[in-house]
Amino acid sequence: MEYGHFDDTAREYVITNPKTPVKWINYIGTLAFGGFVDHTGGALICKGDPALNRITKYIAQMPNSDFKGETLYLRIKQPGGYRMFSPYFVPTLDLCDLYECHVGLGYTRIVSEFYGVRTDMTIFVPIGESRVIRDIKITNISDAPFEIDAIPVVEYTHPDALKQLTNADWVPQTMVSKVVDESDGRKILVQYPFMLRDIRVNYFTSNRPVSSFDSDRKRFLGDNEYGTWARPHSLQRAELNNSEAWRGDNIAALMHHLGVLEPGEMRRLITQLGQEESIAKALPRIQYFRDEQNVECAFDELAQLWDDYLGKLQVETPDAAMNRMLNIHNPHQCHTTKNWSRYLSLYQLGYGARGIGFRDSSQDVMGILANMPEEGKTLIRQLLHVQKRNGSAMHQFNPLTMVATMGDAREREDLPQYYSDDHLWIVLAVCAYLKETGDLAFLDEVIPFYESGKDAQLLETGSILDHLRRGIEFTRNDVGAHGLPLLGFADWNDTVNLRAGAESLFTANLYGKALLEMLDLMRHLGDTASAEKYRVYYSIMKQRVNECAWDGEWYIRYFDWDGTPLGSHTNSEGQIYTNGQSWPVLAGFAEPSRACMALESVYRKLNTRNGIKISTPSFNGFDPKRGGITTYPPGTKENGGIFLHTNPWVIIAETFMGNGDRAFEYYNQINPAAKNDRIDEYECEPYVYAQNILGDEHPQFGLARNSWLSGTTSWAYQAATQYILGIRPTFDGLEINPCIPHEWDGFKVTREFRGAVYDITVVNPDHVSKGVKSVQVGGQAIEGNVLPIFDGGAYQVHVVMGERPA
Ligand code: GLC
Repeated sequence: MEYGHFDDTAREYVITNPKTPVKWINYIGTLAFGGFVDHTGGALICKGDPALNRITKYIAQMPNSDFKGETLYLRIKQPGGYRMFSPYFVPTLDLCDLYECHVGLGYTRIVSEFYGVRTDMTIFVPIGESRVIRDIKITNISDAPFEIDAIPVVEYTHPDALKQLTNADWVPQTMVSKVVDESDGRKILVQYPFMLRDIRVNYFTSNRPVSSFDSDRKRFLGDNEYGTWARPHSLQRAELNNSEAWRGDNIAALMHHLGVLEPGEMRRLITQLGQEESIAKALPRIQYFRDEQNVECAFDELAQLWDDYLGKLQVETPDAAMNRMLNIHNPHQCHTTKNWSRYLSLYQLGYGARGIGFRDSSQDVMGILANMPEEGKTLIRQLLHVQKRNGSAMHQFNPLTMVATMGDAREREDLPQYYSDDHLWIVLAVCAYLKETGDLAFLDEVIPFYESGKDAQLLETGSILDHLRRGIEFTRNDVGAHGLPLLGFADWNDTVNLRAGAESLFTANLYGKALLEMLDLMRHLGDTASAEKYRVYYSIMKQRVNECAWDGEWYIRYFDWDGTPLGSHTNSEGQIYTNGQSWPVLAGFAEPSRACMALESVYRKLNTRNGIKISTPSFNGFDPKRGGITTYPPGTKENGGIFLHTNPWVIIAETFMGNGDRAFEYYNQINPAAKNDRIDEYECEPYVYAQNILGDEHPQFGLARNSWLSGTTSWAYQAATQYILGIRPTFDGLEINPCIPHEWDGFKVTREFRGAVYDITVVNPDHVSKGVKSVQVGGQAIEGNVLPIFDGGAYQVHVVMGERPA
């Protein structure tokens, strides 16, 4: 069964059945102000931080049919009463004649038809504004006139999102709503927790006169709240109760009598939900956005922003599902993870247990560098602020307070309190940024390390280059019995938590990859002494990995504190780990014969039709000596599930080996756009990557969860654009080195790089997977496969794949 389709021209996915297996969402605004909107109009909105400044109450765990955050009721006057329904389907659940939720770039547009009423609602946050606009057009599509009312409703939460759930006395005692009457009959409902009254208020208002309102949920639902969101008692009466809440569960409901609509006639209602220091301060912009043209203008600006963002890299390959992901949805999702890290989604609930993840965001940045390098730079700076003086990094931080923590590592006092990989990812991110932009001055910027003294004075600062060097040194010195990096609380895999003394092959490989980047950078900077130093570091670790971690057909993944391997044929559970094989290839540690064998083992033992599993066989039973991984049933998440983040790394490794067919097979089997006809099994949005799919040891093999905020998106984008299509920034120019399915005749890419636009056509007359025979720029043959850096301008590039002539 299908729940919708892609509309590539409109750059949307269109949901046509409101009863999706789980809520499908979209993001509006940014972390500065915004959140997500689900496909039935519910919305979780916050400003700056979902944990400490949350605005709407959206309890994700409640059933799909529940009211969540915001909705709109319409009612048609009938003899003796009203026919009341929500054009968002939820929470009234009336049968609709048409339902379309257009998941767009920075907006969601829902069009529905119920009882002869067509409602067309566009939901977005204008760029730089602290307000959600809902631009609602209500049309009579029946052949008789009717009288209609529109009642938009918002439910607030206490800004401290966790308090809302943990205290049902203090919270309701503080929550207050007031009405501001304007001379023209319009109203603004103002809402705040008492302590914020004079500094920060929420408001809800519209562009039309309001005849009555409610801000006390109890009064709105009626009958001591035995009235329901599906049938609020107050909507059976002509007017609402004009309740100003002095306490309690605060809502904002505004009654608009839209009058009689003749057949074909339309009324437009524009609502605003926002936050400001005070209403006086908010008023000018509120007025501004009551104007239809200004709203349209803001919407056009948003479209322009996305045109610019996506325009930096567009592709035309023989695969339609790949095109729609690379041109629209994958960069859209990368933009989202860049903004929200792992903070706020339908699955990661933003209550503060997590904030901006150090390793997560370091990887997310790499997914947006081609499209918005400046924003990438800002995020990198922020991340470096939470790196410690010893070179390791705090695991996550709160974006409002910049207070960082060690994440889950805090929960086990008996285990090391740091992650062995975090700080190495930022080396990759900074180097990727430098290759994209050539902005070497960035390396000299000075950024404090995280620790401060008693008087809150920062203890030390260092240049960005210094930060990177310290990260490398931390890992070089933090090694165990085999000379391999100690695991710490965990490496990239959060859930394998071995005792102190355990060593991580993942971190060893990531260190290798980071060293390759540092080497490249040092060579480019002309610092031969440092280059030589890092070359030595690199070969030492390469030797250790190959001497102690080769298991015969694949690489071992960990050594436990007592030296026993994990990820070896000698283990009965967790014999082989995907990351254990892809990363020695990415690091260049695996020589070709081992690389081939290791990757072949992945294909043989770990691949499924839904993607590559993270490991096999799964653990089956809780074991505190292994940690988090054993809390999951077999086949779930990091315990033998298809943990998608690991898949692009195998894809990249396969391209290193020249296996374009296999790389693409792997790419395609996890492409959500290729799952549109399998939603009853897959369940999540087909327009974004999920974090995990249940593996084949689980009875619900194929079921996806934790969509949107996953490192999968950045790496899938990098794997496809830089390694399959092979368009890769280097210090010296844009390298072209594709590795594609041999049957492809070629492909096209338009790529902006350092201010110039390259229109690249790749042809593949000999049907090879890899190899560039010749390159022409503007009709002139060039040596090699690195396109020169130009100062602006547009260039036609013609690339012929095949064996390079001897
Ligand atoms: C989650 C975390 C990420 C971690 C991964 C594997 O995606 O956000 O930091 O690397 O799980 O455990």
